[in-house]
Amino acid sequence: MEPNSEKHADELFKEFRETSITEFFRKNRAHLGYSGKLRSLTTVVHEIVTNSLDACEEAGILPEIIIRIDELNTEHYRVSSSDNGPGIPMKHIADVFGKMLAGTKFHRNVQLRGQQGIGIAGVTLFSQTTTGKPIKIKTSTGKGKVNEIELMIDITKNKADILSNEEYSQYWRGTEIGVELKGIKFNLSERGPFEYLRRTAIANPHTQITFIDPEGRKTVFDRSSEKIPKPPASIKAHPKGLEVDDLINMSKASKARKANSFLVTTFSRMSNAKVKEIQGHVSFDLNKNPRKLTWAECEEIINAIEEIKFLAPPTEGLEAIGEGQIKNAVLNILDPEFEAVLTRPPKVHSGGIPFQVEVAIAHGGHAGRNIGEGTKHELMRFGNKAPLLFDAGGCAITKSVNSVDWKRYGMKDFENSPVTILVNLVSTHIPYTSAGKQSIAEEKEILKEIRFALMEVGRKFQMYHSRKRRALEREAKKQILLKYSIELASGLAKLTNKDDKKILKELHDLIEERITGLELDEGEEEPPEEELDVGLEGESEEVSDENQIDEKNEEGLEGGG
Ligand SMILES: Nc1ncnc2c1ncn2[C@@H]1O[C@H](COP(=O)(O)OP(=O)(O)OP(=O)(O)O)[C@@H](O)[C@H]1O
Ligand SMILES: [Mg+2]
Repeated sequence: MEPNSEKHADELFKEFRETSITEFFRKNRAHLGYSGKLRSLTTVVHEIVTNSLDACEEAGILPEIIIRIDELNTEHYRVSSSDNGPGIPMKHIADVFGKMLAGTKFHRNVQLRGQQGIGIAGVTLFSQTTTGKPIKIKTSTGKGKVNEIELMIDITKNKADILSNEEYSQYWRGTEIGVELKGIKFNLSERGPFEYLRRTAIANPHTQITFIDPEGRKTVFDRSSEKIPKPPASIKAHPKGLEVDDLINMSKASKARKANSFLVTTFSRMSNAKVKEIQGHVSFDLNKNPRKLTWAECEEIINAIEEIKFLAPPTEGLEAIGEGQIKNAVLNILDPEFEAVLTRPPKVHSGGIPFQVEVAIAHGGHAGRNIGEGTKHELMRFGNKAPLLFDAGGCAITKSVNSVDWKRYGMKDFENSPVTILVNLVSTHIPYTSAGKQSIAEEKEILKEIRFALMEVGRKFQMYHSRKRRALEREAKKQILLKYSIELASGLAKLTNKDDKKILKELHDLIEERITGLELDEGEEEPPEEELDVGLEGESEEVSDENQIDEKNEEGLEGGG
């Protein structure tokens, strides 16, 4: 380049600006799930419904949710929702709907559907950038004051711009939202809002959901259980999952006077005895002010933690759907001929984050995906009980399902079987592959757990299937014998000069006895063992049980330290 054509840094840096997070997502909305006309609509429904369910769960309320979609014009819809949740205090409404990275969940290590504090502001943003209109909110915490607010986001400031606020007296509790959206479409496909809500109902049997679609059709997904899930408990971070950067940030925010008490109060399974062990590994005194810990010192602590054994993280913070609850929901919604449900004990992923897997398999009835000319298998993926409808390809759940050799379990043509497989993963932190939260990263422990759970329900299916097959064979045999018995009876009657009706009756009794005898002889057939290592790097269940966390094996992680 010619020397005189060079530009001075001062000139280049005239363009230097800070961008707000909202500005970033306005330009990159696909990161939030706003790509494609149907997906964008489902994403809006997902953000609204997960928030209502989270809020009800934390408040101990049996959720009642109504979603209504109206078509206003071509590719122009309005989504309206209402919940009976705890409501949103007036002073937080602006930040909830008009500011990204603001919420009650991100900082808490708690098992909820939302994690980031972006979701609903993303809805406001998508609505205003496609229609130029504000989001409408009506909310009340049940203390006699209702607020109706219209707001938009001031994109450059990542801050709400409240256009109107009407406050009046009324006793009511809950939240209603109305947004207009353009450039989207509604249909009844597998990725649409109807299917999203149907699956939400399956994984949240305590929830009552009413859906009114653009044609005015109303569907009510009744609750099949009155049991309110336990409110999720926050759990402290486990030392084994920590990185230096986490530790330095947490120590800066600590109010403790000394680094050793900061460690004890901040992390789970960190006792005074463990801190003493750490002290033995580091070159400085842990009596110092935690806010003065340097990067190098935090690095020493992390290295010490790697050397030391810790109890596995507590799992009280995990709340699975539960076998009984899933079974009720599956029976209620799929009405299958066969179902098996299984909740595995909690495990840990990424070194310190507890998670738990539950699976269900349903066969026959309304199970499977009806595709007009037949039925195909259906996979329902859930993360913390929220349906995952998109990005199936890169998801740990899909990969685990595909790694199972279903033929061994009596499903010759798995693809085209009337079978629904449900997998729910609960965790205080689900490793999603993007901010759109539709796909779970392929962590080794997660893949393994899902696969074991599937194999276990697969074996139950296999037993049912072979029982059913043998019953059919017996029935066929019986029909053949019965067919010949008439002729045989009349022949015998001639030969013996006896009454043919009586002989026929005796023959029928004999056949009945014979078939029952066959059934008793058969007993239970042992299902085949599938090799545990197919597609999963030679791990076996015994290996996985090493990090199993249950009462008798609480020391699980100690071996791995
Ligand atoms: N229907 C509701 N009832 C009560 N509180 C709500 C409701 N909807 C949202 N909130 C509150 O607003 C906050 C922000 O919601 P938002 O969806 O933006 O983030 P999030 O749910 O915390 O995380 P994510 O971005 O993963 O969804 C929530 O953390 C919750 O405190
Ligand atoms: Mg949310």
